[in-house]
Amino acid sequence: MTLEEKLGQLQQLDGTAEGEYRPEHVELARRGRLGSTLNVRGARRTTELQRVAVEESRLRIPLLFAFDVIHGYRTVFPVPLAEAASWDVRLVERNAAIAAAEAASAGVRWTFAPMVDIARDPRWGRIVEGSGEDPLLGAEMARARVRGFQGPDYGLPGKVVACAKHWVAYGAAEGGRDYNTTDVSERTLREIYFPPFKAAVDAGVGTFMSAFNDLNGLPTSANPHTLTDVLRQEWKFDGIVVSDYTSVQELVAHGLAADGREAAALALRAGVDMEMVSRLFNEHGPALVSQGRIPMAAIDEAVRRVLRIKFRLGLFDNPYASEAEENETLLRAEHLAAARQAAARSVVLLKNQAGVLPLSRSLKSIAVIGPLADDAQSLLGSWSGDGRKEEVVTLLAGLRARNIAGLRIHYAKGCEVDGESRAGFDEAVRAAKKASFVILAVGESAAMSGEAASRSSLDLPGRQLELVQAVHATGKPYAVVLMNGRPLSINWLATNAPAILETWFGGTQAGHAIADVLFGDVNPGGKLPVTFPRSVGQVPLYYNHKPTGRPPEAGNKYTSKYLDVPWTPLYPFGYGLSYTEFTLSNLRLSAARVPPGGQVTARVDVQNTGRLPGDEVVQLYIRRAAVSVTRPVKELRGFERITLQPGEMRTVEFALGPEQLGFYDHAMKFVVEPGVVDIMAGSSSETTLSTRLEIVPDNQ
Ligand code: GLC
Repeated sequence: MTLEEKLGQLQQLDGTAEGEYRPEHVELARRGRLGSTLNVRGARRTTELQRVAVEESRLRIPLLFAFDVIHGYRTVFPVPLAEAASWDVRLVERNAAIAAAEAASAGVRWTFAPMVDIARDPRWGRIVEGSGEDPLLGAEMARARVRGFQGPDYGLPGKVVACAKHWVAYGAAEGGRDYNTTDVSERTLREIYFPPFKAAVDAGVGTFMSAFNDLNGLPTSANPHTLTDVLRQEWKFDGIVVSDYTSVQELVAHGLAADGREAAALALRAGVDMEMVSRLFNEHGPALVSQGRIPMAAIDEAVRRVLRIKFRLGLFDNPYASEAEENETLLRAEHLAAARQAAARSVVLLKNQAGVLPLSRSLKSIAVIGPLADDAQSLLGSWSGDGRKEEVVTLLAGLRARNIAGLRIHYAKGCEVDGESRAGFDEAVRAAKKASFVILAVGESAAMSGEAASRSSLDLPGRQLELVQAVHATGKPYAVVLMNGRPLSINWLATNAPAILETWFGGTQAGHAIADVLFGDVNPGGKLPVTFPRSVGQVPLYYNHKPTGRPPEAGNKYTSKYLDVPWTPLYPFGYGLSYTEFTLSNLRLSAARVPPGGQVTARVDVQNTGRLPGDEVVQLYIRRAAVSVTRPVKELRGFERITLQPGEMRTVEFALGPEQLGFYDHAMKFVVEPGVVDIMAGSSSETTLSTRLEIVPDNQ
């Protein structure tokens, strides 16, 4: 390979938003100066460009077509935060497998997913793309998505190579402001931000994406510690690291690189293999090599990694997609059914006063009110893949589609999501007064969520709360259906609304799924993957916080709390109700004492004490105290979602060994220290059962 052809493999360029390749891509492909594209998609388009690379270039190296298939390709699943709320790793793996099958049929063989950034700040719009605040839930979701996208071998038909992103700690942006500075201790990196990435590596993820953020003084796209020391040397990752969009160029804006040439040198030397969109590797590579600022060996290693993934994908043998297969794969009935099930299993029941839900089938009239009741685009969420709003089932459409005999449905938008006008209130109140039950669909638009969508407030935008209050004043029974991409400080709703369903952005089949839950075809079993604060002023507020030397204490002024809001969350991590009731009991251990390297099994009995079948997510937490470093008040160490019939009891068990009981000591060595471990179980992070394990030194 010439140096130019090598550098060509390290170049990824952007197609159009609609999926077209650009005219310059053809000539670059012909000259072997293009390795990959993003956004180019569709069997016809990708095959056209691929033929140029494979049949007209000197080395006939196939292109690698990438796309952000974050929660679905054409069949759009609930946003990742919603999928995490299902706590159902098998469901999430299946969703990713369907997304991969659709993407691969369209010629896309690389997805820029899973996004595995831990997020503790709901002001950050990209909290919607990840799995929330907890490293274990995040790791299990990362593992499931990598397995779903890649299968046992991503060279198999219908599989794509996945991408763990954004490496690393992008979600720790100060102020929750996207792209902002992050300053994170090595311990917090290793205990909070690394685990989902390590889970992705352990699941065989083929690629990583370096991030935008400055991390402890070194931008993550030029950070040798994370890109080489940890990823390559410690974790033995041998895949591709692609930069995020122009993040190599942005090293100049960060004030790290004096110019583009230095930015290219810094990124390549740190361990970025492929440059997304900016072209500094290609522009400056020859000079950097001739000046000895980049060893040819570094270029060769980056090219080797790119070719390795292309070989593993089978692109040299099967570079083309088929339109016939694409037409047969997209939007299959079983894909839509899976999306409907996923959206329903992601719903979290936040409140259900006096059993307002599920709705009776004998209802005569329902008013569906709110700016999100018929907003198809928002239901696709951010990163909607190739999803089309005209294919989305809105809440209004989902309710109408049930064709319940004798049920009249009135609709009124009421107001805009973030408009200031109350002009639609009268119509909404009239609709409510005509109905025997009201469903209020409020929340955020998809544009308020995702990348470059940080909010300084967590309140319902616009006049939506006033709309709810106007309907509340009619005295009609109602349920609030939230559609949003982040925790919201919905204090008034939590106090006054009879029922609240958190439905997130539920994807192509959201309307059917929410209707299934409202009418009880599906008993909601989701749990919050992220804490809901009472006020944005409490942020960051997360369950696995440290105790401090002055834990908050009512009546004691000089403890860690606020004057103007309770220190507790509005809804805690892991919280969610059901249409039935569950009782957890009899938490016990297979042994009361273990040596530091030992393992113990924790068991807890769960019974459905209500009258409907339902799902419970049993959660196991630990706490360590009196050890060599301070530890969080609680850490999730196991969870399982189970379905129980009325009256049924089952025992759930969790293995606790060094991986669950250890932590990094002051010297950043992973240790299992002797001492007492509090072990707790519950149906949320506000656990109800506890017991103790003693870790005894080996010589005792
Ligand atoms: C964006 C995002 C990243 C995405 C990439 C390509 O800026 O940060 O998540 O994969 O660019 O679209």
